Amino acid sequence: MKFGHFDDQNREYVITNPRTPYPWINYLGCEEFFSIITNTAGGYSFYRDARLRRITRYRYNNVPVDDGGKYFYINENGNVWSPGWKPVKTELDRYECRHGMGYSRITGEVDQLEAEVLYLVPLGYRGEVQKVKLTNHSNRKRSFSLFSFVEWCLWDALDDNTNFQRNFSTGQVEIVGSTIYHKTEYRERRDHYAFYTVNESVTGLDTDRDAFLGLYNGFDAPGAVMECRSRNSHAHGWSPIASHHLRVELEPGEEKELVFVLGYVEVPVADKFTGKQEINKRPAEDMMALFRSNGDVDRAYNELAAFWDELLSVYQLEHPEEELNRAVNTWNQYQCMITFNFSRSASFFESGIGRGMGFRDSNQDLIGFVHQVPGRARDRIIDIASTQFEDGGAYHQYQPLTKKGNDAVGSNFNDDPLWLILSTDEYIRETGDWSILDEMVPFDNDDSNQATLFEHLKRSFYHVVENLGPHQLPLIGRADWNDCLNLNCFSEAPGEAFQTTENSEGGVAESVFIAGMFVLYGDAFVQICRKLGLESEAAEAAGHISVMKKVMNEHGWDGRWFVRAYDHFGKKVGSDECEEGKIFIESQGMCIMAGIGLEDGRARTALDSVKDRLDCEYGIVLNNPAFTSYIVKYGEISTYPEGYKENAGIFCHNNPWIMIAETLVGNGDAAWDYFRKICPPYLEAISDLHKTEPYVYSQMIAGKDAFTPGEAKNSWLTGTASWNFYAVTQFILGIRTDYDGLRINPVVPEAWDGYVVRRKFRGASYHIEVTNPDHVSCGVKELYLNGNRLDGNLVPICKEDSVNQVKVVLGN
Ligand code: BGC
Ligand code: NOJ
Repeated sequence: MKFGHFDDQNREYVITNPRTPYPWINYLGCEEFFSIITNTAGGYSFYRDARLRRITRYRYNNVPVDDGGKYFYINENGNVWSPGWKPVKTELDRYECRHGMGYSRITGEVDQLEAEVLYLVPLGYRGEVQKVKLTNHSNRKRSFSLFSFVEWCLWDALDDNTNFQRNFSTGQVEIVGSTIYHKTEYRERRDHYAFYTVNESVTGLDTDRDAFLGLYNGFDAPGAVMECRSRNSHAHGWSPIASHHLRVELEPGEEKELVFVLGYVEVPVADKFTGKQEINKRPAEDMMALFRSNGDVDRAYNELAAFWDELLSVYQLEHPEEELNRAVNTWNQYQCMITFNFSRSASFFESGIGRGMGFRDSNQDLIGFVHQVPGRARDRIIDIASTQFEDGGAYHQYQPLTKKGNDAVGSNFNDDPLWLILSTDEYIRETGDWSILDEMVPFDNDDSNQATLFEHLKRSFYHVVENLGPHQLPLIGRADWNDCLNLNCFSEAPGEAFQTTENSEGGVAESVFIAGMFVLYGDAFVQICRKLGLESEAAEAAGHISVMKKVMNEHGWDGRWFVRAYDHFGKKVGSDECEEGKIFIESQGMCIMAGIGLEDGRARTALDSVKDRLDCEYGIVLNNPAFTSYIVKYGEISTYPEGYKENAGIFCHNNPWIMIAETLVGNGDAAWDYFRKICPPYLEAISDLHKTEPYVYSQMIAGKDAFTPGEAKNSWLTGTASWNFYAVTQFILGIRTDYDGLRINPVVPEAWDGYVVRRKFRGASYHIEVTNPDHVSCGVKELYLNGNRLDGNLVPICKEDSVNQVKVVLGN
């Protein structure tokens, strides 16, 4: 069952039934001011940090889930409704929510009165702009009231949700004309406040929640709205809000537009006040002046559209399947940018009060957006590397506001350092900017202790070499990519966090997955050394890699697939010898991506085992058989009921590793089959089962052992976005960035006839036409650049601003 449809022309998902199986959200904002908005106008805003600068309030574990938001209410002679259906839930004659690139447009209509609200965060603006358009489609005069509503958060979202004994006494507002200023704690140490305004004079206002709602009412029936009379309340403590009341009259056919602005302001400490207790409103007034008229909003909207046109123009596909086009051209790229901006902080599954930015996560996210914003990717790499320790190890996460490593989760996740090689290598492939390697970068953010980025990569590489276990495989530390495989943890206390609990002394568990990573990204390090002319450096590193390969041949292969790890007692994890968890997806994907087993058939055998044991209707599960009881020596993985999350859930993040592996053995049909199974637009028809948004990936889909196979959770903020984009664009469609050009190596279903990719690369444009006359899966038979035949499959870098025709003929 569907709840809407894609509008490809406008790059929107159009929701036409407000009762989606879960709130379907969108993100507003690209730089500093961000909002989350659901299809029924729920959600909240924050400035840069979802925990420390939360602007509007959101209640966790709310019922209904998305209650609380940026609401509008209409009261026409006692008939009360909201354009987003919620919170009033009066049946609408027409409802539509268009989630687009950085904006959402929600429209409701009752009795031929239409209310459309466009929500957006303009580029370079620290605020959310809402344009409300009211249209009288009937042939009689209409007069009604419009109420707005937001509820302020007292800045620190965690404190706001917990510290009521203090917070109920601190709230403060100021009111000037149609503007409500939220200034809690500004009187003391804060140098920031927020405001909510409308570009017309108002009939009434409210700033105290209980006065506006009435103590025993919910958002669905605020007393002020139901009685059509603002209380003109002035909040002192309790819960400050902002609500405007405007009376509107519309002749038949007439329309009216209003502009609301929710803004965030920082003021230099010396200029904080203009009078006793009076905040300095100048910066807010300057912001408001930018959005006085409808034209101002239209201009910002057009700028945003142009911004996204530009971003998305770097990689555009023309393929016969519209689902694939919309994933590649629009939604997957959009999600990659969202993960770049938000990491894992704020969604409807991430509270925004928990994690910082992950070292591992942010490096992987980068491979999905480096082509769009290479400059910001460069900064991001430096930021991440600046948190690295001198010995090559890493904090597991860092705070976006301070950019400092965060000890809350600790370190010793031994895969972390290697991801820095992946991101840097992909950055260089995209941009050719080798100078990044000479950049001086601190260790642990200590500016007095710096080394080049190249040196950081080297430390990442040798961190593995220096941390080997009894089989000479890499020590796993707290965990590798799979945060839930906690082999040194041995947690017995209920509620103890597996990631932060002190590991047992002298943990010797080893990871075959990290060994695979070491071969793959170690090899990237070797190639980088060679490019820099560091031959002996390269040879030394290559020596370590070949030793690791030998060790893996001896201890990493189980007979029909790659072993996953060795536990604390030296026993295999992910082996036929195990009772449960005989096979894991991660080591199959990573080892084959590293090229292990490609020559001797083990890769093919392992992929057959994946197909046999891990594949199901909805994707590839993480492990099999699922764990049916808690195994203390394995940790969190065995805490999840079978089929969910890391215990045999379909972890969409590592499905693309198998897709890439299938392309490496030349099996385009298998790669495509796996891609299609989890690619959101292909799942639109089962939206009721899938539950999460059909336009973005979710971290996890319940696997074959679950009670609800096919049901997804944790949409939006997941490494799934970047890995799937990377797999489909670079390995299936096969336009791979390389140091000296574009490497063309499609591995596609045999039935495909061809497709066109428009790629901007190093300042030039390439119009790449792939044809498949012999219906093969892979193999470039002929390659032409501007009519000239090329040997091999590398398209060299062309002159800046040139437009180039590339013809690719597949065949044997
Ligand atoms: C989740 C993992 C996550 C980890 C760290 C676990 O509970 O299952 O997916 O990476 O927490 O936050
Ligand atoms: C989610 C985390 O963000 C990521 O870092 C981890 O690799 C996966 N879960 C798997 O546990």
